[in-house]
Amino acid sequence: MYKYLKIKHSPKLKGEVTISGAKNAALPIIASSILAKNPINLTNVPEVADVKTLLKLLKYLGASYNLQNNNLQIDTSTINNTTAIYEIVKTMRASILVLGALLARFNHCKVSLPGGCAIGARPVDLHLKALKQMGAEIKIEGGYINASGKLKGADIIFDKVTVTGTENIVMAASLAKGKTRIINAAKEPEVVQLCEVLKDAGVEIDGIGSNEIIINGTDGELLEFNDIKIIADRIEAGTYLAAGAITNSEITIKNIIPEHLEGILVKFKEMGFSFEESENSLTIKPTNNINPVKIITTEYPGFPTDMQAQFMAIATQANGVSMIEERLFENRFMHVAELNRLGANISINGKTATIIGPTQLIGADVMATDLRASSALVLAGLVAKGETNVHRIYHLFRGYENFVEKFKKLGAEMEILDEPNP
Ligand code: EPZ
Repeated sequence: MYKYLKIKHSPKLKGEVTISGAKNAALPIIASSILAKNPINLTNVPEVADVKTLLKLLKYLGASYNLQNNNLQIDTSTINNTTAIYEIVKTMRASILVLGALLARFNHCKVSLPGGCAIGARPVDLHLKALKQMGAEIKIEGGYINASGKLKGADIIFDKVTVTGTENIVMAASLAKGKTRIINAAKEPEVVQLCEVLKDAGVEIDGIGSNEIIINGTDGELLEFNDIKIIADRIEAGTYLAAGAITNSEITIKNIIPEHLEGILVKFKEMGFSFEESENSLTIKPTNNINPVKIITTEYPGFPTDMQAQFMAIATQANGVSMIEERLFENRFMHVAELNRLGANISINGKTATIIGPTQLIGADVMATDLRASSALVLAGLVAKGETNVHRIYHLFRGYENFVEKFKKLGAEMEILDEPNP
């Protein structure tokens, strides 16, 4: 049964919200459990759909796991199958993260090519090119990546910065024979945590957090993992700050890592918002004038593409003309048409959206298209007069843990309802 989210005009929010573990840190670390000789224990794991999908894939491959109360134990010693099937991969393209680890450990695997998604074609050519440079034989047959070969270290230069590409090669290199240099590596905090986890498990890794990572592989020796606490989700944190901003309310987010938010906070401050910071919490303060903003999405530590839709929603309430350029994905403006249905005044010219504000948004039926676009529609629904119904709300379940409970705790009026039978 399809669900939708009904949001009533909630002009003011108040209170505090606890941020969950980062989905995009949990996914590569869960995939890296394929490299473990021992069962591994993870805490602060977000119980979101994408994490459950990856665990379902690992179970399909023969691993076992137990996830409850954000604690996860995984044992991959029983993996007896190296085919990641289309039926599971198609529901979550980050399943591609098992490719490097399966190949490194078993020297062969078949992984369904992940489809594209609403925000773009999302090719994995850079992942495959790098694995070939490490000695893998890669054949694309019937929509599957057939990979085989014993991996050896190589010098990899990524033509584009790729987060999961970097993560896949770090995992592959960890068990390869010899030294791998990844040049033009991604530096996102989620990549950093994966590297730290692998280093802690005995892999020699240098350059963590820089754009050149050097890995000396164990030549097939499995890794002994220590317990892992997943880092806080900087995008979830930014999304709740955006809820405070768009309703011009004072709210506090807790259990965060403030330095991971710097690229986002700069833009909130340009819009007129100010913050009270403590060691692991942040309070956004209202402003008496929301300024327009100019944003160009870029790789970490710049302004993240995963916050672009949320800032577009805030910009509909700014006094003036805002400009947002999306540099990473070719089709990440699906939320524009939906925001305009609510009364926003947004136009697109190539990679740049122009948002004229302020506009009084009026509730309407809108359609979620991807994870972050759906969060932008929820934010807009808070300030829209009347009621807003966000359909295909399953997109939001992929990456935001307990979002209805968390928003209700801040005073938002919303509920999940069943779509009426057509
Ligand atoms: C990761 O996706 C994140 N997903 C995305 O978050 C995030 O938007 C993205 O990085 C950028 O920060 C996870 O970490 C699971 P990329 P990823 O490879 O790794 C092109 C969310 O909302 N490219 O860094 O797939 C690609 O098309 C999700 O949680 C190639 O051309 O992104 C894009 O234009 C959405 N060939 C650019 O690079 C390749 O082989 C960056 O993509 C790989 C990527």
